[in-house]
Amino acid sequence: RYLQENELSQEDKDLISSLPTEKGWVANYLHKYQGFWQATTHMQGALACQKHFQALESDILLVTTPKSGTTWLKAILFALVKREHYLDPQRHPLLTENPHVLVPFLEIDVYTDIQVLPDLSSLAPPRLFSTHLPYSSLPDSVKHSGCKVVYLCRDPKDAFVSLWHFANKLRPVGSGASSLADAFDKFCRGVSVSGPFWDHILGFWKESLKRPESAIFIKFEEMKEEPALHLRRLAKFLGCPFSPEEETHGVVDGILRLCSFENLSNLDVNKSGILSSGMENNAFFRKGEVGDWMNYLTTEMVKKPDSITQEKFHGSGLKR
Ligand code: A3P
Repeated sequence: RYLQENELSQEDKDLISSLPTEKGWVANYLHKYQGFWQATTHMQGALACQKHFQALESDILLVTTPKSGTTWLKAILFALVKREHYLDPQRHPLLTENPHVLVPFLEIDVYTDIQVLPDLSSLAPPRLFSTHLPYSSLPDSVKHSGCKVVYLCRDPKDAFVSLWHFANKLRPVGSGASSLADAFDKFCRGVSVSGPFWDHILGFWKESLKRPESAIFIKFEEMKEEPALHLRRLAKFLGCPFSPEEETHGVVDGILRLCSFENLSNLDVNKSGILSSGMENNAFFRKGEVGDWMNYLTTEMVKKPDSITQEKFHGSGLKR
């Protein structure tokens, strides 16, 4: 459930009012907290999970910047790590639940009640959570528990175009689309949910190099290109590699089919269902392709994000 701005505690309101603030283009307002821009409505959850979330070694945390393919990876992770519980493909939870219900965001779904902390003790391991928080803002217990962090990123231009469409869906009916040029300018200046986009990616890239046993780094484009390869890589990383029997029985392809854009976006739950936040599930499925930015950004415009990518990733070993 997305908190309303007037539901914040006084302590959080005081903290938020002390932070640099900009008018957002997805959220109403963005606040620069620990070096990254956060929506007012996510701040309380971010602060609460930083204070209270106790990660377990067996936890799996999916981290993404918005519109990097979170919904897809949530589905894949759920199908992968819970596969022994759902052997009948006709009765799989992904057929009736949106992936965001099965793998909740810590700061958006789990820590949203300012009166009561969630009881997560009864969740069966491995517990699956996700977040858009940058590495530097993750709850300390995530960094020290040895839990697995799966990071998914996407080309900045495609992520921007996807986010711009998503933002337009969130706008009140009849208010029209927001200006692409304004939104683009803010995105390139780093002012977007969990932005600067590039710094978010770099934080996790460095972590995945430092602690490859705890953090895996995946690109949306590579996942699209060679999904089976990356699914097997993910399974190994998470300590649940596919057995020779599973390989023979086509379990890898089964998971990819179940979680494909075509399959998920055509399910009733994702065509007409809504999340408890009020968000329509279909807002998470648009095209699911690589390179759609070409239909929206001019040659002149793309010089900006391309030069930021070059400058920021220079020397990091991270290829665009
Ligand atoms: P587009 O807007 O480019 O189509 P997130 O899940 O992080 O909010 O990202 C949403 C983006 O992922 C959207 O991109 C959406 O269409 C795409 N997407 C959703 N489900 C997908 C799937 N199963 N496979 C590939 N892409 C998917």
